[in-house]
Amino acid sequence: MRHIVLTGFMATGKTAVGRRLAKRLGFDFLDTDQLIEERERQPVSAIFAARGEAEFRRIERELVASLAPARPTVIATGGGTFVDESNRTMLRRLGPVVCLITSLETTLERVGRNDKRPLATGAGAAERLATLLESRRPFYRMADVLVETDGLTVEQAVARVATAIAPRLRGEPAAHAAGVTAIDDSHAGGKAQEKR
Ligand code: S3P
Repeated sequence: MRHIVLTGFMATGKTAVGRRLAKRLGFDFLDTDQLIEERERQPVSAIFAARGEAEFRRIERELVASLAPARPTVIATGGGTFVDESNRTMLRRLGPVVCLITSLETTLERVGRNDKRPLATGAGAAERLATLLESRRPFYRMADVLVETDGLTVEQAVARVATAIAPRLRGEPAAHAAGVTAIDDSHAGGKAQEKR
């Protein structure tokens, strides 16, 4: 069954866009952070604080490995999920992976609005996020489709993702459009190639 996986840095809109995309396509929706919080009966921030990031990553890996939605589903993942190789392998098996991209400025503006993200709070958060985003870029670029959402409303971002992903759901190469970068399937062999 073909699902749709959403990845991308913190605050790129994976949950908001994913939820509406699912509605538009008649898919179910799930969010890996939310599933972790339900299973562990603890907010992600509390898991980080009380048990540490390594334990969170272990739980996250276990959850990703267990994902097997019974109906077509849009799966929103956490910002660090796709960095892990075993998660990437499992998620790719579920369906096309779409990476949402926003500028660092937009990210900082959005994460500043709440304290639910342990990696984005505290002193030096802006510098930490800039470094983290830089180190993760190569992994995000391993997604099948990169979709820029800066300056778009959630609805506009959903429309952009839906257009880009529709051919992939039919097993064809992703659509090319403004703000969309389709990564050639040959990335599976280690050679990332953009088709513009
Ligand atoms: C994380 C992002 C968070 C959450 C956790 C770690 C990350 O998800 O999984 O705080 O490493 O980037 P969001 O991307 O939904 O904020």
